[in-house]
Amino acid sequence: SMNASLSYSLLHAAAEKFGTPLYVYHAEKIEQQYQNLLAHFESTQTKFFYACKALTNVHILKVIKDMGCNIDCSSINEVRLALHVGFLPNNILYTSNSVDFDEISTAVELGVNVNIDSLSNLEKFGQKFGETKAIGVRIRPDVMAGGNLKISTGHIKSKFGIPLTQLDALKLIQEKYKINIRTLHIHTGSEIKDVAVFMKSAEVFDTLLPHFPTVEVLDFGGGFKVPYAPGEEGTDMPQLGAEVNKVMKQLSEKFGRNFTAWFEPGKYMVSEAGFFIAKVNVLKTSGDIIFAGLNTGLNHLIRPMFYDAYHHIDNISSPENPMKQYAVVGNICETDTFAWDRAIPEITEGDLLVFYNAGAYGYEMASNYNARFKPAQVLFQHGEPKLISRADQFEDLLSLQVPL
Ligand code: LLP
Repeated sequence: SMNASLSYSLLHAAAEKFGTPLYVYHAEKIEQQYQNLLAHFESTQTKFFYACKALTNVHILKVIKDMGCNIDCSSINEVRLALHVGFLPNNILYTSNSVDFDEISTAVELGVNVNIDSLSNLEKFGQKFGETKAIGVRIRPDVMAGGNLKISTGHIKSKFGIPLTQLDALKLIQEKYKINIRTLHIHTGSEIKDVAVFMKSAEVFDTLLPHFPTVEVLDFGGGFKVPYAPGEEGTDMPQLGAEVNKVMKQLSEKFGRNFTAWFEPGKYMVSEAGFFIAKVNVLKTSGDIIFAGLNTGLNHLIRPMFYDAYHHIDNISSPENPMKQYAVVGNICETDTFAWDRAIPEITEGDLLVFYNAGAYGYEMASNYNARFKPAQVLFQHGEPKLISRADQFEDLLSLQVPL
């Protein structure tokens, strides 16, 4: 079993009270993760922006804001949610990709920090804003890193960022419009354990900085790894902090100006703070396989099917039972397998299972596929479980459909 920051009895009580399937989050765990970052990075030269694509419920965003963390957005609507919750524009970062220039323009006019990821939009930015607004540019470093190809973004076939090989074209646009490039941004992928990958970004910054005398911010993106499986290790934060602190000092000395490091952690902030609880509807035996069929599926937690992601599963109704092997499957009309050959304390129909690491890209990637309801979300804060979004009802399925 893994260390859960919420006890099985608290999770069980929440499931009894609010029903299943259910997403449960733990505010204090989110705060603990942030404190852990603050403990290892030099505060005067580092800023953290929570990558809210991982989980955008406004009550979660409020927890993030109240602890003094900044926010990173990947769409103009995430920017609007952040403003709605009360983040100041200066504490909001918007890293766009493949967006209509209107979105960038709106974000710039709202006063938030913006990173641009194509020469095309940089040109449009130059035409509209010239030298009047500072901007960031996202560089594709041609580094292969990340948990799997679907979540790797820095490699040579990735759609993200301006390829390093187009530096000359980038500089031409910058000079033509006298664009004030304040930030260089690199995000190589998600689930990066290897500290050397971040140091590789620092090397790329080092080679770029002579070309960009107005740069003040080096944005390393997100992608810190958190443990998903028992015994697995996440990114070594003391080591990463020490190495980043060191390289930032070196770069500042080398170029004679003070740089600030920005990071955009999503998973690191919320993954382990989330639990997804589902009920076993059906046990079915087929040869030596026992299927445990749940009252949920890929419509609620798609990571196992989409990325072959491992999510640890435990039986919170009977945690002391002897272990048995199961194929844990969903109830969607697709092959939605959460886990093959997984050892779980022996299951009786009606038992509640918990999925760990459900805080990041869990609910956020949920859908109404098969016309099923999205589950409710609950937040534990100061020991108190509060409903932060209700489950769908039948009317919700019709609510966007227009009578003819
Ligand atoms: N910054 C940028 C520019 C990003 O594209 C991302 C993630 C992050 C920060 C945050 O990365 P994190 O710290 O959460 O690894 N849905 C996938 C992950 C997709 C990540 C997309 N970009 C998953 O469930 O594994």
